[in-house]
Amino acid sequence: MKGRFITFEGIDGAGKSTHIGWYVERLRALGREVVHTREPGGSALAESLRELLLQRPMPLASELLLVFAARQDHLEQRIRPALAAGKWVVCDRFTDSTYAYQGAGRGAPLERIAWLEAWVHGDLQPDRTYLFDLDPALAAQRRAAHAPDRFEAEDTAFFERVRQGYRRRAAADPERFRILGSDRSLEILRELLEEDIVSICK
Ligand code: ADP
Ligand code: TYD
Repeated sequence: MKGRFITFEGIDGAGKSTHIGWYVERLRALGREVVHTREPGGSALAESLRELLLQRPMPLASELLLVFAARQDHLEQRIRPALAAGKWVVCDRFTDSTYAYQGAGRGAPLERIAWLEAWVHGDLQPDRTYLFDLDPALAAQRRAAHAPDRFEAEDTAFFERVRQGYRRRAAADPERFRILGSDRSLEILRELLEEDIVSICK
């Protein structure tokens, strides 16, 4: 059986973490060997870089380079070996996050992101990406329970730019993306995910 690379995307508080564990268990129940991972992070070096990225103020260029430095290690240590062994990789965020946050959100030139993407993993792209799409004001209410990190502390205008950045990515690649309107109930979202699991497991 061939492995697949699946990513979960969306603004902070849109519902990725709520669904990803369930999704991984569904794939395992269907007999797939699954590696559940996340970005920034997923390998020892990348988890160290994650701490810096989420807590320490830094110039945008440093942020962009650190995101890709973490991704390079994560790909080498975990993602590529798992896919080569026929496993499925389910990753909470990947390069679409960089286009949305560092690009649309912070204003990094998209050509620069594309250049880094081509260098680090041009030949490897997700087979499926779920975009959890939610109004930023609602997402802010949903995540109000915990202390914000450096990204979560951004205002609604920032998250509106990030949301639109994601939507443009999804519109440019409708084969890969499935947009999930996250204002709907958990049950409905699960049904939509279940339907898609059935189709990609064929
Ligand atoms: P993310 O991982 O995208 O940042 P989470 O999965 O942590 O978001 O969800 C943020 C909060 O919203 C959590 O408290 C979660 O229980 C709640 N939540 C997630 N999905 C829904 C939903 N469809 N309806 C209502 N609340 C939700
Ligand atoms: P995450 O752990 O998914 O946060 P949450 O569970 O709160 O949604 O991601 C951490 C933060 O990292 C998130 O705010 C988005 C940011 N990020 C980027 O800015 N660029 C990237 O390329 C990635 C992968 C994440």
